[in-house]
Amino acid sequence: MTNQSNTNLSHESKNHDPKIIVALDYSDATSALRLVEQLDPTLCRLKVGKELFTAAGPQFVETLTHSNFGVFLDLKFHDIPNTVAKACTAASNLGIWMLNVHASGGLEMMQAAKQAVDNNTTNKPLLIAVTVLTSMNQQTLNQIGIETDLASHVLKLASLTQQAGLDGVVCSALEAKMLRTNLGHELCLVTPGIRPANASQDDQSRIVTPANALALGASYLVIGRPITQASNPLKALEVIHAECAQASLT
Ligand code: C5P
Repeated sequence: MTNQSNTNLSHESKNHDPKIIVALDYSDATSALRLVEQLDPTLCRLKVGKELFTAAGPQFVETLTHSNFGVFLDLKFHDIPNTVAKACTAASNLGIWMLNVHASGGLEMMQAAKQAVDNNTTNKPLLIAVTVLTSMNQQTLNQIGIETDLASHVLKLASLTQQAGLDGVVCSALEAKMLRTNLGHELCLVTPGIRPANASQDDQSRIVTPANALALGASYLVIGRPITQASNPLKALEVIHAECAQASLT
């Protein structure tokens, strides 16, 4: 899926639509920028999550969006519809490429978020929703009163996301095929938990290689440590990019 809705087309990376989103899991701007300076915006986008955003703030996000990198602002908004809508407007104004909310916030909340993004005249990022966090399992779902089986709950929340008119969902690559079968090919599927065949598993338990994730139906791959902790991050990015390019030809 290309980001047709994004009006800020000055980002070279958007024209290339790279599939890799590098997770900037750093506690400060200096460390994050040290990594970013080694990366190539034609090969990847960048993800800023709660830790880095809380430490470095919106000005840091704008530093990234004013460079050539597309930015996924991963703040997973979940609140009353009015608050989420206003947060989405503020986030969109930073010039980001993508942002997200929790599908568990409900249809009305997601529709309010979408309307806020659609009404924004300066920048219209892709808007996606988290279904069930991959850190959760059947037991943790049951603990919060959800008795449905996990896969059905993921499908239910992804269907609701589609109904609200959002662009896609964050999910495990292992759920991508099921979502494609049930919901078609329009939804953008953003998948973390990616590890190249020879990489360390770290603390991820259900991992998929970049090529397999794309084959299962993923649109974009969130990758952190295999790139950020590599002795040569650009080389690691280039190798994964080449694997992705090969996979999309087959
Ligand atoms: O280093 P690694 O590749 O495991 O980083 C994965 C990134 O994706 C991290 O930023 C993590 O917070 C994020 N993520 C995840 N699993 C999810 C959702 C997000 O690993 N279900």
